Amino acid sequence: MPRSLLLPLLSVLLLLLLPLEAPRAARASPLQASSKATCKAHDLCLLGPHASPPAPRVNVSLYYESLCGACRYFLVRDLFPTWLMVMEIINVTLVPYGNAQERNVSGTWEFTCQHGELECRLNKVEACLLDKLEKAAALLTIVCMEEMEDMEKKLGPCLQVYAPEVSPDSIMECATGERGTQLMHANAQLTDALQPPHEYVPWVLVNEKPLKDPSQLLSTVCQLYQGLEKPDICSAMADPPREVCYK
Ligand SMILES: *[C@@H]1O[C@H](CO)[C@@H](O)[C@H](O)[C@H]1NC(C)=O
Ligand SMILES: *[C@@H]1O[C@H](CO)[C@@H](O)[C@H](O)[C@H]1NC(C)=O
Ligand SMILES: *[C@@H]1O[C@H](CO)[C@@H](O)[C@H](O)[C@H]1NC(C)=O
Repeated sequence: MPRSLLLPLLSVLLLLLLPLEAPRAARASPLQASSKATCKAHDLCLLGPHASPPAPRVNVSLYYESLCGACRYFLVRDLFPTWLMVMEIINVTLVPYGNAQERNVSGTWEFTCQHGELECRLNKVEACLLDKLEKAAALLTIVCMEEMEDMEKKLGPCLQVYAPEVSPDSIMECATGERGTQLMHANAQLTDALQPPHEYVPWVLVNEKPLKDPSQLLSTVCQLYQGLEKPDICSAMADPPREVCYK
């Protein structure tokens, strides 16, 4: 892929934006609470136990392989920013495997990957990250690796930032061992069971339906979310500031 796509800038963004995540995710919704009948004028209105349950999250699944250029571009430039902006309403699932193939060689699964051995190894590394890390940390670590040139060398530095308690050795042990094979076989089954089958990667499902135009991820998620209170960015998108400014 063109190297310019993997903007090193994004790693800076990644570090800058992270501290914002907690307050945003934790944001309660005062409007919702104050409209309750039980909430009298001049009272401080807290979100009580009777608040309606939150709407279900929009499922976003990415079927991909670690070294495919368009997959890396989508992960870093579409999925990651979307997740940063609306993480409270989406449920992201990553399935590294993509266009790989598996065969049963006397009782063990062996994999062949479109971009060679390295890709098979990195797919397993990412499957192990998804297996061993907390969900957000796994996504961040994978994005961190995918935006770099030499992904394998970046495992340690990326883990150090997002999951310092997990050693790169433990991830490599998983990736090169029985567990890595099991996880990859599970991903092969998920990928091969896709209905309709994937035509290419990145193959993106939003609420189980293929998203053909990856640049529409954020707007599609905003549209599909059923909650009354949508993240601010969704209303900004629904009503884009299109008015020109006269001089
Ligand atoms: C998120 O997606 C996974 C499947 O990838 C599913 O098991 C889980 O229940 C989903 N969680 C929510 C909150 O929808
Ligand atoms: C894999 O192959 C072995 C024999 O080579 C066989 O015993 C086993 O049932 C096969 N497993 C599957 C899932 O096909
Ligand atoms: C998301 O996926 C989970 C698990 O597959 C499912 O239970 C849930 O209904 C899905 N959510 C939506 C909004 O489709």
